[in-house]
Amino acid sequence: MAGIPADLLFEGARLATMAGPGLGVVEQGVLAVRDGRIAYAGPREGAPRFEAAERVDCEGRWITPGLVDCHTHLVFAGDRSEEFARRLAGESYADIARSGGGIASTVRATRAADEAALLAAALPRLDALLAEGVTTVEVKSGYGLDEETERRQLRVARALARERAVTVRATYLGAHAVPPDGTRAGYLDLVCDRMIPALAAEGLADAVDVFQEGIAFTGAECARVFTAARAAGLPVKSHAEQLSDTGGAALAARFGALSADHLEYCSNAGAAAMAQAGTVAVILPGAFLMLNEARKPPIAAFRAEGVAMAVATDLNPGSSPIASLRVSATLACVLFGMTVEEVWRGMTIHAARALGLRAEAGSLEVGKRADLALWSVDSLAQVVAQIGPSPLWARYHGGVRA
Ligand code: NIG
Ligand code: FE
Repeated sequence: MAGIPADLLFEGARLATMAGPGLGVVEQGVLAVRDGRIAYAGPREGAPRFEAAERVDCEGRWITPGLVDCHTHLVFAGDRSEEFARRLAGESYADIARSGGGIASTVRATRAADEAALLAAALPRLDALLAEGVTTVEVKSGYGLDEETERRQLRVARALARERAVTVRATYLGAHAVPPDGTRAGYLDLVCDRMIPALAAEGLADAVDVFQEGIAFTGAECARVFTAARAAGLPVKSHAEQLSDTGGAALAARFGALSADHLEYCSNAGAAAMAQAGTVAVILPGAFLMLNEARKPPIAAFRAEGVAMAVATDLNPGSSPIASLRVSATLACVLFGMTVEEVWRGMTIHAARALGLRAEAGSLEVGKRADLALWSVDSLAQVVAQIGPSPLWARYHGGVRA
């Protein structure tokens, strides 16, 4: 009797499927791929017989879902290492922002860079993520703060997916800061009345994000942005309670946000609202570390409320110049007390949810895209317990070795 046809069959693997609660470990696992999708992922015993064009003997290695970095700002020009030195000398992130540095500094450099220059600058950052097993990455705009440059950033985000074997979600973060050459009211009109509908129609943005903070936008302003996004059919996300509690998590939840991110100052009420709405908490320890913050996100409240937690790099030139999702996970464990299991789910299934990709990515389940990371380790703890050489053995995007 002939077996079931498959393009690829991984044998002798240990699987962490992330299906159901926990890691979904299968010790003696088999994974079959057909037409770029997972056709089977489970125990060898009782698996159907596959007739595979190609077989890979994993020799006991681990297969996890390809990693998902669900929060980055990796398309930008310029360098802000000087601000690192200023912070060491005692200035705060907010002081530097108010004095014309911070986001505004990257805006100046990004406006001056053409598409080719932005792409060339972004690729090495993306490559660093891919080298550690990332197969899906989110990329935000927000360093243009004008029509032309925001569009250029989003086009470069789309171009990244043509240059590399990776799925890219592009997020419009027009409400990142008030542009240096604009007024608050005029800029919000541009974001809400022109940019959001246009970008949705052009298919350049998959979601809309805001920065709700004392140094950025108020709750009322963010609510207006969310309302425009909803009208344009785009899901929303929020940079919320990073430096103070302005009720950003609860507002995001009220608009059914995919995620609220940072959250160091999130209240119990904010966590409860997120749980109710199914909004994912995206934990960003890189920014916490680099800004030398003291206030930690309320991990215990998220656990108690049943809020799904993701972990991401926040890769950007200012607050989180960290091009490693693994290191971010390590930091989430060491600095915030997340468990190994939590950060693994946070880099896979919960991160996929934070991007609205629950049906496509983040777990080893039949029908999902065959995005896989194969690891030369004895245990999954090894991947996050060390900062150093990547133990990634192979990466597959849509069933193709990448
Ligand atoms: O996620 N919080 C706001 N935005 C970015 C940082 C932007 C920057 O410093 O360039 C963040 O931390
Ligand atoms: Fe961010």
